[in-house]
Amino acid sequence: MNTVLSLRGITLQFGGIAALSDVALDIGAGEIHSVIGPNGAGKSSLINVISGLYRPDAGTIRIGDAVLDAVPPGQLATLGVARTFQNIALFKGLSVDGNIAIGLTHRARATAFEQILGLPRARREARAATDAVAAVIAQLDLARFRDRAVASLPYGVQKRVELARALVAEPRILLLDEPMAGMTAGEKAEMSRFIRAARTDWQTTVVLVEHDMSVVMDLSDRVTVLDHGVRIAHGTPAEVQTNQAVIEAYLGVEEPLGAAPPREFALAG
Ligand SMILES: Nc1ncnc2c1ncn2[C@@H]1O[C@H](COP(=O)(O)OP(=O)(O)O)[C@@H](O)[C@H]1O
Ligand SMILES: [Mg+2]
Repeated sequence: MNTVLSLRGITLQFGGIAALSDVALDIGAGEIHSVIGPNGAGKSSLINVISGLYRPDAGTIRIGDAVLDAVPPGQLATLGVARTFQNIALFKGLSVDGNIAIGLTHRARATAFEQILGLPRARREARAATDAVAAVIAQLDLARFRDRAVASLPYGVQKRVELARALVAEPRILLLDEPMAGMTAGEKAEMSRFIRAARTDWQTTVVLVEHDMSVVMDLSDRVTVLDHGVRIAHGTPAEVQTNQAVIEAYLGVEEPLGAAPPREFALAG
């Protein structure tokens, strides 16, 4: 496996609570890798550590060739990583186009002076940005919404705009924290299709936090399971689904092997 993201010994404390304890994770290029676990398991904390929002108390993060104690704030895009948030973080009054273009701002090299005067480098960059936004709008089927203010759009479409903003910079690694939370079954199916497309069309490696087990089982190449900040299992969807520690974590009780119905597993939030 050509590993593009690797965590070792990641520990993160909040006061007396260990949000993450000695967590290891290896994610291969082009993989769709889900991180699952009951509420408070540390899933968002893990995404926040990988994206530099939280600085771990211990451990190392390897992204591509860079080995880091913590991802420096503002360096995420440079490392080829983009993310979405558990709660939508878009500029509600701004158009779909405008929100997606924000995903490219880190790339701009032209100075404000060059931009105001419309000097060649600024013009070139503006053209490239317009092309990149157009491409992702076509890919994610957002053309008919592009001039609309984000606030006026259905929830499922807003989540798609967030995905578009993350994808426009063509990240090597895409971190998605519950991209389907609150969606209808139809919206989830649509979102699943676009996540697959990100991998197939852009060769993006995807780290997905998701509660809906049917989506996880359907989309993921491999799954890592957290419980109380500890990695309790990892493997293929089929492997983790039948793993006794995983079943117990979701049920919160000990069950004889094989006795836990998958239905309970699917209901766990
Ligand atoms: N910013 C924070 N301040 C204090 N505690 C936090 C913070 N973020 C997460 N936690 C705690 O860390 C644990 C893991 O939370 P989180 O990573 O959000 O879990 P999940 O996303 O799996 O539901 C929880 O006990 C949560 O209360
Ligand atoms: Mg969370």
